Amino acid sequence: DHVAVLMGGWSAEREVSLVSGAGCAAALREAGYRVTDIDVGRDVAARLAEVRPDACFNALHGRWGEDGCVQGLLEVMGIPYTHSGVLASALAMDKARARDAFSACGLTVAEGLVATAREAAAGHLMAAPYVVKPVNEGSSVGVHIVRDGANRPPQEILGEDPDRHVLVEAFVPGRELTVSVMDGRALAVTDILPATEFYDYKAKYAAGGSRHVVPADIPEDVYDAAMRASEAAHSALGCRGVSRADFRWNEGGTGDPAHDLVLLEVNTQPGMTPTSLVPEQAAHVGLSYRDLVVWMMEDASC
Ligand code: DAL
Ligand code: MG
Repeated sequence: DHVAVLMGGWSAEREVSLVSGAGCAAALREAGYRVTDIDVGRDVAARLAEVRPDACFNALHGRWGEDGCVQGLLEVMGIPYTHSGVLASALAMDKARARDAFSACGLTVAEGLVATAREAAAGHLMAAPYVVKPVNEGSSVGVHIVRDGANRPPQEILGEDPDRHVLVEAFVPGRELTVSVMDGRALAVTDILPATEFYDYKAKYAAGGSRHVVPADIPEDVYDAAMRASEAAHSALGCRGVSRADFRWNEGGTGDPAHDLVLLEVNTQPGMTPTSLVPEQAAHVGLSYRDLVVWMMEDASC
């Protein structure tokens, strides 16, 4: 089988995707596939027409690669691809619309609202602490926690387009939990202990930036609630293949996981670097990195 690994792209997560893609391409080669690496640019349609792969492993993260755009192109070209389809990808990538879909399914999300960057920059949209984040970025790019003080995020959030939408969400104190879902079933819960204040871009990718504990050392009812909520979130968006749901758990909250476990988002193209969370959870259930990548490849469809 001839497969193309789509990686890179031009989103803010380009560098992460190059590492994910290199890992997946190496695993596929080891498993005997004929692999073409494609560093995705605006000419991706022409590259695909030239390479003519039997299927694509999508190792892209962020805009254009995770939001349904590349998925739509592959649908039109009739090339099977890994992970979620057009609609689930687009929904998951829009954190505001994904929240609505989660709430409609009875999943707990943080108190929140959508505003323009200009409105958010003016501050006082809710009582601190709260979080201001782009509706469509990954890896914590552009995320700011407003603690108190002037009750305003840094003015850099105005960015190039002050009229674009941002999500303003109550900050949930406590711990960061994440759960991978493969084929509709949750794999395990990881407790992420960042060395810094929160699990930001640096904590995610710098050596020693965070410590992952899998299985998470948390009460059984919370563990189970996270497993079930991640499966429900995967299905609420109509995800396919592997996804990963990120939560905050307010450890000192009411004691009821249905209230204290807050779903932040679903990643339809979760990090696949050899030290990423999904491969770690797969290893926990006895699946090697190579087996995981091969399963994803074989699950490709369009
Ligand atoms: N957005 C990064 C790649 C992740 O969710 O793993
Ligand atoms: Mg993300």
